[in-house]
Amino acid sequence: MDYKPYFWFSREKPPSPHHNHRHTDLYPISRYRPQETMADLTTTLGPLTLKNPTILASGIMGEDAGSIRRMTKSGAGAIVTKSIGLTPRDGYPNPTITETPHGLLNAMGLPNPGIDHFTTELDTLHPTTVPLIASIYGKDPDEFRTLAHKMERHHADALELNLSCPHAKSYGMEVGMDLQILAEITTAVTSTVHIPVFVKLSPNAPDIVTLARAAQDAHATGIVAINTLRGMSIDLDIRKPILANRIGGYSGPAIKPIGIRCVYEIAQHVTIPIIGVGGITTGTDAIEYLMAGASAVQIGTAVYLRGPTVFSQITKEISTWLTTHHIQRLTDIRGAALP
Ligand code: DHB
Repeated sequence: MDYKPYFWFSREKPPSPHHNHRHTDLYPISRYRPQETMADLTTTLGPLTLKNPTILASGIMGEDAGSIRRMTKSGAGAIVTKSIGLTPRDGYPNPTITETPHGLLNAMGLPNPGIDHFTTELDTLHPTTVPLIASIYGKDPDEFRTLAHKMERHHADALELNLSCPHAKSYGMEVGMDLQILAEITTAVTSTVHIPVFVKLSPNAPDIVTLARAAQDAHATGIVAINTLRGMSIDLDIRKPILANRIGGYSGPAIKPIGIRCVYEIAQHVTIPIIGVGGITTGTDAIEYLMAGASAVQIGTAVYLRGPTVFSQITKEISTWLTTHHIQRLTDIRGAALP
């Protein structure tokens, strides 16, 4: 894949040239200069400890052992797989993805190899160097329970329940917008497995806070907010929607304020950790989410925009920001913007 740089990368402010160099004149030889202490970037999500708060979002390079192995070496603190269902699915016909000036619109149609093939891939990866979070989708509590059990037996460190795919009929958002069904699915999984369970919610829901509370009441370990928003692009020449599925999920920089708002609202109504996702492209984007109440962040579209080194780049940008602002621990800024 050819990763194209975009104009919005240049928003990252360089570290202040004045910071921590007050003693430079007194100690001109660099080895006598007081060492800048590195900020502690570790974060916890229930029982999981992440070396840094960046997580590969579901749907990008997470469908087979080879790409997952590559991504575990990318510097991410954890990895989420492509959403996996009970049986193999080809997904929608092309075009499945189109670029807009401020983000991506995609409708892949949940293409995946099915749980039984996928778990053989997982076996070859074990043990991974960073926590592996398996994303699963299904149409009812029984399907989710079966998938969860198999993922746990094949070494997944945690689960992400996809209750928010914006366009797959009978799956995702269609089940995840109904409070009762969301609660039943979450309970079915949390009562079956011993690994942490994260519930990924849709911003297309009228009240995402109520969904988050229902997930917490059903013993979810944490909330993932947000999935993509329903969108459409039209091809002027053929006078038809560009995507074969017509409607797709919109992601990327344009949706960041919506994700921040959702995390900020959810954080005031749940006590479990929140993973923020939506438009995070730079370290300061991640810090905004942390200040809104997130404990970690997921990165998807920015892998396309900045390439797979985006995790180490964003981690470095966060670290520089914290050091510049004399903050020792990432956790010191979590929720700083909350009332
Ligand atoms: C797909 C898109 C999503 O936003 C999602 O949550 C799951 C799957 C897809 O098109 O495959």
